[in-house]
Amino acid sequence: MTTHHQHEVVIVGAGGAGLMAALYASRGADTAVLSKLYPTRSHTGAAQGGIGAALGNLEEDRAEWHSFDTVKGSDYLGDQDAIEFMCNEAVPVVYELEHMGLPFSRTADGRIAQRPFGGHTNNTTKKPVRRAAYAADRTGHMILQTLYQQCTKNKVKFYDEYQVLDLILEGGKAAGVVAVELATGELHTFHAKSVVFATGGHGRVWDVTSNAYAYTGDGVAIAARRGIPLEDMEFFQFHPTGIRKLGILITEGVRGEGGILLNDKGERFMEKYAPTVKDLASRDVISRSIYMEIRDGNGIGGKNYVYLDARPETINRYAALDGRTNPDGSPYIVTAEELLSKLPDIVDFCRTYLGVDPVKQPMPIQPTAHYAMGGIPTNMFGEVVIDEKNTVMPGFYAVGECACVSVHGANRLGTNSLLDLVVFGKQAGVRAAEYAKGSKYGKFPTDAADFTRQQLDRILNNPGDENVVDIANEMKVTMMDHVGVFRTEEGMGQAVEKIRELKGRYLRMGVQDKGKIFNTDLLNAWELGNLLDCAEVTAVAAKARKESRGGHAREDYPKRDDKNWLKHSLAWLNADGVKLGYKDVKITKYEPKERVY
Ligand code: FUM
Repeated sequence: MTTHHQHEVVIVGAGGAGLMAALYASRGADTAVLSKLYPTRSHTGAAQGGIGAALGNLEEDRAEWHSFDTVKGSDYLGDQDAIEFMCNEAVPVVYELEHMGLPFSRTADGRIAQRPFGGHTNNTTKKPVRRAAYAADRTGHMILQTLYQQCTKNKVKFYDEYQVLDLILEGGKAAGVVAVELATGELHTFHAKSVVFATGGHGRVWDVTSNAYAYTGDGVAIAARRGIPLEDMEFFQFHPTGIRKLGILITEGVRGEGGILLNDKGERFMEKYAPTVKDLASRDVISRSIYMEIRDGNGIGGKNYVYLDARPETINRYAALDGRTNPDGSPYIVTAEELLSKLPDIVDFCRTYLGVDPVKQPMPIQPTAHYAMGGIPTNMFGEVVIDEKNTVMPGFYAVGECACVSVHGANRLGTNSLLDLVVFGKQAGVRAAEYAKGSKYGKFPTDAADFTRQQLDRILNNPGDENVVDIANEMKVTMMDHVGVFRTEEGMGQAVEKIRELKGRYLRMGVQDKGKIFNTDLLNAWELGNLLDCAEVTAVAAKARKESRGGHAREDYPKRDDKNWLKHSLAWLNADGVKLGYKDVKITKYEPKERVY
């Protein structure tokens, strides 16, 4: 049985991007949100350290500096018109969140507190600037709670634990989606005038990741299967500080508060790689530096990790050496109590998962797969664009990590993901409602659910000589080894072959649970198909890009090559593999230069 629904705007995903889009869409149109998780469990809750905005609450800051840092952080691949738009909108949108009730941490005089973060600088002195507005180390979590309350107040209709499995296009326009209700296993079709994908990223492709189990690239893979190209998928960010082996995020806010990276010899190795900003260089630079230390035998005990030291005595010693001061010019000194109040979750995670107390011991960390810079191509209004000429697909929008606007280019700066969610979530919500109000419901195919049913039936009825866990593990290890922080032609070639072999085996994969009620066995298997598609596109696009830029570091092509590669990739996934195309990067006023931190 398939149940049919109709809403003017259907939003898929209830993280920060989906909720911001829903809030704005619901002001102009009948709006529904479908989410495979209960909304406040969405992965936005894992973003800890802050949202970037040049509020200048503690020292001088400017939106233009934020724009330039973002362009430079992107290794000049970000579209500069969209970046300038985002950084200018940052200030009003943060105040908007404050006025909605978001409980930001406060300065002594009651303003929104701000801390330094990697790659954010005073463009005159080149020193780190306090730009990340934060709510302790729970900033994403607070954004989720605040926006969910606002959506509830605005009577947005929520379909919780409805997992979207297909996008319906009719006459070159978005017409709706197909979803499974997790509690019953029944399929539902949703007819819409506007569809907004806010489905998040695909970090579960890699073995060590900060990403939630739910981050399986669903929206990205669904769009690709429906013929929409994916942009810049070769750029995937490794956050420098994941808990060793587990990958759980240790916020960059720890380094913002003065934490230091140390190798086995007790050396502050970032002095070597980024002499000006040191531990607050951009993430791609720091992750590579950690790998180089490990390769040089300087990992702790010769192993594949280093220390992040946030003990007050360490922070205070290095702050004195750096001449770090408070905004009033007094020496920067922290106490254990201050650390506990500014970073409560981090302290708790380390105590719980590692038995390490960060106030008394250094934290063992390694780079962890964190963020997709690439995704479904959009313009800065959240409208999905489907070719090299940026032709808009009517009625289809994408925002947040599943989308590529592109404001992050080849490497995202910390705090700009939360900013991206709310700035472009708002744009997509406004546009989706306007489009819905100005159009009539199109045709909705009677067989809309057939493709979904076939996919699920194939998995359920397979004899099952292959299983989900084996295929997933082989994919994760392959991608970690060959399409991780450092890459080579040979390694990526092996990865492409391996992923294709796994895709063949995937077709023979079976599941044990044949039931309907909360069949996570079946849905995990379906999600693995999405991860494999994301992995294939990533590996193929990465192998084709013969340069190093941002998160894409090739040992065989160690330099950035603007002459040949200052361009976005577009990847079309089809039955025979991946077809690549390219489109221009939008440059407004920042001509590409060498990056020095
Ligand atoms: O380090 C962090 O708190 C992560 C934030 C982000 O990815 O922007």
